[in-house]
Amino acid sequence: MTNDIILETRGLTKEFKGFTAVDDVNLRIRRGTIHALIGPNGAGKTTVFNLLTKYLIPTHGQILFNDKDITRVEASAIARQGLVRSFQISAVFPKLTVLENVRVALQQREGISFHFWKSERVLDRLNERAEQLLDDVGLLSFAHVSTVDLPYGRKRALEIATTLALEPEMLLLDEPTQGMGHEDVDRIADLIKCVSANRTILMVEHNLHVVSKLADQITVLQRGAVLTEGDYATVSADPRVKEAYLGVSADEPEEPDNTTSDNASDKESGEAIV
Ligand SMILES: Nc1ncnc2c1ncn2[C@@H]1O[C@H](COP(=O)(O)OP(=O)(O)OP(=O)(O)O)[C@@H](O)[C@H]1O
Ligand SMILES: [Mg+2]
Repeated sequence: MTNDIILETRGLTKEFKGFTAVDDVNLRIRRGTIHALIGPNGAGKTTVFNLLTKYLIPTHGQILFNDKDITRVEASAIARQGLVRSFQISAVFPKLTVLENVRVALQQREGISFHFWKSERVLDRLNERAEQLLDDVGLLSFAHVSTVDLPYGRKRALEIATTLALEPEMLLLDEPTQGMGHEDVDRIADLIKCVSANRTILMVEHNLHVVSKLADQITVLQRGAVLTEGDYATVSADPRVKEAYLGVSADEPEEPDNTTSDNASDKESGEAIV
């Protein structure tokens, strides 16, 4: 594949009853990069994410994945093409063990019939692969723990493992560190870095500390439109970005869920980007 751009949007627009939540957004996500979508509250990040993952249908515009127009393709079909939203399969069944959850995801990937599953050798092979995935996300020692008993941050790691079981070429992550304490934030950030090898990642992330640490490229949204793009140093130095954040943080208090970092200046407030 010679095309450097794995995911592209052209004129992506979403209107809700006359209100334009996403306004003519042109994204170009380079293959093999970690790309972050940021912006103040109400900027349209979640709506863009939901358009990309087919939870919403755009009012106008196109989405191309590996040069193919996927605007009208269903979520399950794009997952088979390699574009996977984390947590979309919500394959964390609380009563199953951590290992069993990954096995279910692997089974889903392979579309293995129940009959086929009866073979001991197949089960062994799946167990090996599941253990490998758990090891990759630092959960091997939790393999036989009931998922319901996992701490929150570990559940997110498990969700990433079940997503990786689908062998995605590109992963879409919606606020992967939301609601976490700083230890978990750092662990999930390291994990994202780790799983980004040979993959492309697009993430919506409020925690600018995480964005600064991980993102190769950042798109800043404001009122549904792209305000600017670039690496962290470039966008954080942009006065329009500072203004966009300060403008919002001045009259909107932060949500407690997003107070995820160990340092007050790292929160999703204006200070973090200044
Ligand atoms: N289903 C909907 N119907 C009507 N308006 C909507 C709908 N979904 C989102 N909006 C509006 O679109 C705008 C963008 O919302 P969106 O949730 O995409 O923002 P966001 O950047 O994710 O914000 P946050 O940082 O608070 O998560 C907001 O003004 C929101 O009220
Ligand atoms: Mg949102």
